[in-house]
Amino acid sequence: MRVLIPQEDIEKRVAELAAQIDRDYAQSERLVCVGVLKGSVFFMVDLLKRLTVPLAIDFFQTSSYGSSTSPGEVRIRKDLDLSIRGKDVLLIEDIVDTGYTLRTILDLLRFRGARSVKLCALLDKSAAREVEVGIDYRGFEIEPLFVVGYGLDFDERYRNLPFIAVLESEDSPDVPSPS
Ligand code: IMP
Ligand code: MG
Repeated sequence: MRVLIPQEDIEKRVAELAAQIDRDYAQSERLVCVGVLKGSVFFMVDLLKRLTVPLAIDFFQTSSYGSSTSPGEVRIRKDLDLSIRGKDVLLIEDIVDTGYTLRTILDLLRFRGARSVKLCALLDKSAAREVEVGIDYRGFEIEPLFVVGYGLDFDERYRNLPFIAVLESEDSPDVPSPS
């Protein structure tokens, strides 16, 4: 396991993003922060604790069908509880990879009549992008590597690491190699 982004760097960047978001939504009385389960949870909590604007929180959970059978087809496993009609929605995601998940959710949020929809993503693997997704608040640009920690998992493991790491199976035989 190789540390890619240390805890201090994450904390510093999260504080910067929060300050920017707080300024941008200073006039909004109708902000709804929507997290995408489960990966965004650590990032979302740290980010929102730093905001002072009034806000509501809600969650989506998605899963993609096997990429070989239906590329880019995203299923909604848990929908929002709140109505977002007329609201300012800030979607919070751990990582944008191919972009299919975010594209689907962003389109749905707009379709449901949100007043505004913006995306905040901790990590941007832009070299892996297959569909275009505009990121309004970006934590870090990273190489197209498989990363874990700070919410991100490999087979549900490693989410609780306080840093972002790259799995390197050669160095740690007990760690399974991501495909
Ligand atoms: P996309 O639809 O391809 O953009 O995939 C986004 C989802 O794939 C993210 O919300 C993550 O759950 C997962 N994902 C993509 N890359 C990684 C990674 O490097 N580590 C862990 N999960 C990842
Ligand atoms: Mg995931």
